[in-house]
Amino acid sequence: MKKLLVAAVAAMVLGGLAFSGFAQNATKEAMRKKLDYAQGVLEGLTLQEFDLAITNAVLLRDMSQTNAFSVLKNQDYLANATNFTRAVDGLLNAAKREDLQGATEAYTRVARTCVQCHEQFRRDQFVKAQEKALAK
Ligand code: HEC
Repeated sequence: MKKLLVAAVAAMVLGGLAFSGFAQNATKEAMRKKLDYAQGVLEGLTLQEFDLAITNAVLLRDMSQTNAFSVLKNQDYLANATNFTRAVDGLLNAAKREDLQGATEAYTRVARTCVQCHEQFRRDQFVKAQEKALAK
């Protein structure tokens, strides 16, 4: 039973590695931009410059539409991407209403979706999560 578990985890890790090899080229550039835009949103919120927050949120949203990743047709990935888009929409709406509190909360939801998707799909984070699960 234990051997089976180890084999299953190994298969998952290897799968994750192969997956992220592809991921690396397809998304690296896009993700760097995502980080810039997310930072732009934070800047907009902290300075109460809603236009800046909105501009960057729109850019973030456009990226999730054109993300090279949708070609993967991985259901879990798509679910993560959908959550991300939804969170960005919430952020956009709140920023358009100039609702600082709401936009800040929406921003934290966006950040959570970044982290969630990464934990599941980014190579290093995926491997780390597997190791942690094994150690339990
Ligand atoms: C739907 C899944 C998903 C979401 C949502 C997501 N990412 Fe990523 N991200 C990935 C994957 C997969 C990689 C691995 C590709 C890579 O390492 O180049 C990655 C890589 C990165 C990298 C590393 C790029 C590099 O130079 O190596 C950064 C930075 C990053 N993401 C930032 C973000 C930020 C900020 C957000 C949220 C605003 C976000 N990501 C949301 C999937 C996602």
